[in-house]
Amino acid sequence: MEEKINRLKQEAAELIRQQVKNLSELNDIRVKYLGKKGEITGFLRGLGQLSQEDRPRLGQIVNEARRQIEALIAEKNAELKEHEMAERLANETLDVTLPGRHTWRGRLHPLTLTLNRIKDIFLAMGFSVEEGPEIERDYFNFEALNLPKDHPARDMQDSFYITEEILMRTQTSPVQARTMQAHEPNSPIRMIAPGRVYRRDDYDATHSPMFTQVEGLVVDEGIRFSDLKGTLELFLRKIFRENVGVRFRPSFFPFTEPSAEVDISCVMCHGKGCRVCKGTGWLEILGAGMVHPRVLEMSGYDPKKVSGFAFGLGVERIAMLSYGIDDLRLFYDNDLRFLRQF
Ligand code: FA5
Ligand code: MG
Repeated sequence: MEEKINRLKQEAAELIRQQVKNLSELNDIRVKYLGKKGEITGFLRGLGQLSQEDRPRLGQIVNEARRQIEALIAEKNAELKEHEMAERLANETLDVTLPGRHTWRGRLHPLTLTLNRIKDIFLAMGFSVEEGPEIERDYFNFEALNLPKDHPARDMQDSFYITEEILMRTQTSPVQARTMQAHEPNSPIRMIAPGRVYRRDDYDATHSPMFTQVEGLVVDEGIRFSDLKGTLELFLRKIFRENVGVRFRPSFFPFTEPSAEVDISCVMCHGKGCRVCKGTGWLEILGAGMVHPRVLEMSGYDPKKVSGFAFGLGVERIAMLSYGIDDLRLFYDNDLRFLRQF
C-alpha cells in the first residue's frame, strides 16, 4: 500500500510538471487524484478498514501525499496564470504612437443659414411656415395663379414637364393657392413657404436652373399695399442693415395687382454703381404685389370681404448680398474651401 501511494504521488508529480499545458488540464488532474472520487481520496476513505497499528503510519503517508500533490497543483496554477497573463500582454499591446483618427465636424450650408435667418425674422412677425411639393400640378403652379394655359407670361418660366399636367414647380407661389384651399374660406393667413424651384434658365453668376425661393402670403380683412411695404422694408432692414436703401418698382405678375419688384441699394458699392449691380446702384431681390381678386376667388376666398399681399424672394440672391459672394454657382460647387468659411 505504501508503495502504491508513492507510485501515485510520482505519477501525479510527473503529469503536473511535464504534461499539463493549461488550467483546465490542471483541473482534470486535481479531480483525478484529489476529487471526491479521486485516487488519493480513495485511500483516505480506506484508512478506516486498516488495523490499529497500520492506521497512523499509513494515514500520515496518504496525507503527506495529498499535501504534496496540492502544493504541486498550486505551484503549477500560479505558473500557468502568470504565463497566460504574459501572453495576453504580448498580444493585446496598444501602439500609442499611432496617429489619431480625425473626426470632421459638419456645418450648415450658407443657404441653410440664410434660410434660417429669414424664417426667424418672419416667425417673430407671427408668420407660419408652410410647405408645398417640388413636383407640382400645372393647376397650382399656373392656373390657380391666374395663368391659364397659353398665357404668354408662362414663357418666362419654362420648366421640365413630367406630363402635360405635372411639372417641376417654377416658383413657390403655388403654395399660396394650396394654403388658401386648405383653410376655411376668408379665414386669415400669414405664412411663408420656403423651398426649391426649377426653371429652364441660365447657369451664371446670378442665375441657376434650380434655386430657392421664399413665398409670403398675408390675407385678412383690410390688408393694404402699405402693409406689404412696411413688412418688406422691416424684413430687408433686419436681414441686411438698418439703413439699406429699399425701392419698389412697378412690375407685372398675373397673380398680383398692382405688382412690384423690390430692389435694395447695392451692398457692394453702396449705390455708387459697380459690376455686381451692373452700374445701376440697385439689386433686384424679390417680386411682390396685392393678391389678384381672381386668385382669391379661385381658391374660395371672397375679394369683397378680404384682401391680401404676396411676395416671392430669391434666397441665393439674399445670401450673396449678405455674405458678399459674387458668384451664385459657389453655393452648388460643394467646394469645401468655400463652405468652411461659414
Ligand atoms: C416670381 O417667381 C414670383 N413668383 C414672385 C412673386 C411672388 C411675385 C408673389 C408676386 C407675388 P421672379 O421670377 O421675379 O418672380 O423670381 C423671384 C426672385 O427669385 C427674383 O427676384 C430673384 O431673386 C430670384 N430668381 C429668379 N430667377 C432666378 C434664378 N434663375 N436663379 C436664382 N434666383 C432667381
Ligand atoms: Mg423678377
